[in-house]
Amino acid sequence: METTIEKKLDALWRVRGRAPDEREKALLRRALLTLYGNIIPAPALGTLPWGTRRAIAPAMPRYVGHWNWDSAFSAMALARVDAPLAREQAEILFAAQAENGCLPNVIFPDGRVAANRSQPPVWFCAYREIDRRDPDDAALADAYGVLCRYEAFWRTRRQTGGLFRYDADEGKNASLVKFESGWDTSPRWDETLPDALWPIDLNCYMVEAYRSLAYMAKRLGRSEARRWTACAETLAALVNERLWHEESGAYMDTVIADGRPTGVLTPASFMPLAVGIADAARAEKTAALARAPQKFYPLMPSVSYDAPQYASGDYFRGPTWMNLAGMALDGLHRYGYTALAAGYRERLLGICAAETRGLFEYYDSRTGEGRGACGYGWTAAFLIHWILDF
Ligand code: GLC
Repeated sequence: METTIEKKLDALWRVRGRAPDEREKALLRRALLTLYGNIIPAPALGTLPWGTRRAIAPAMPRYVGHWNWDSAFSAMALARVDAPLAREQAEILFAAQAENGCLPNVIFPDGRVAANRSQPPVWFCAYREIDRRDPDDAALADAYGVLCRYEAFWRTRRQTGGLFRYDADEGKNASLVKFESGWDTSPRWDETLPDALWPIDLNCYMVEAYRSLAYMAKRLGRSEARRWTACAETLAALVNERLWHEESGAYMDTVIADGRPTGVLTPASFMPLAVGIADAARAEKTAALARAPQKFYPLMPSVSYDAPQYASGDYFRGPTWMNLAGMALDGLHRYGYTALAAGYRERLLGICAAETRGLFEYYDSRTGEGRGACGYGWTAAFLIHWILDF
């Protein structure tokens, strides 16, 4: 495996065209080893439900399964060096699509499938990334069919008033609704569950989903590309109309029943910038949150530093998660806040490099110490993105 990794690393640097520094080199190497090291091994006896395909777990041996949005992040990062492995992540999940179009939250190696809920819809744009880097018409046609049914799932079962919300189906309870959001214990859901809210990130992922479907339809010569683009635009307009709260100076999760902002400020507020739908004035107010020490400076915690619920080391209630911080970095970068984004990139790469034990699930947002499981896939995926794309 070591020689294969070295070859892949060489290929990555060639694409990038700028010589890496030592820290970037070491982190990129660690990130690739982490992703490959999380391939779930076949059992000595019996088989895996996904056959000979190679599923990447979030973190072996603590989280063993094929999680929906984790696998999308891994696939986006791997698409640049190993398109077959990236595509297998899609195939494994897509083969488990439920009758109603749901792509399940998680598939376990013993064959159990958590199909009464999904997870943040990252797979639309993850598949687009795979196709961009390694175009394959037949595979794209199959994936497009799956993703059209997945869109129908969100539209028919998760849409209220034109915007999307999280939920769960048969056997629903509060925890399962939170699981669909991917931010299980976040204070975003303390007062109102995400089935009664319009979450900012979900609606922005869906804007990107519609754009990805438009890309795929165009690639396949289908006439509906225009219709998908129109869906993206309509949804973007609704996000700006209902989820921006001038008095808070921020995009906020919004209670469906009365249009009230929850008041809980998290990196999800940067998502409209990440998908490019905020105007310059709103982008500027959002960027100010990234500069403010009582809000998100310096380590982009999972809830603002001044929130009463903030606890620096407690799961989604304060720690820094690279996939959530990624929303802010992408947004700042996209809107030309180059120095601000570079500062965050520098500090986040810094805490990952300082943790010699490995790449962690999340990090204490005061001390930078690694927390939760070690050897985490999405931390690896975001490092690859920041090192190569910024
Ligand atoms: C936790 C997270 C969820 C993630 C899963 C696997 O349950 O809350 O978002 O997908 O772990 O990493």
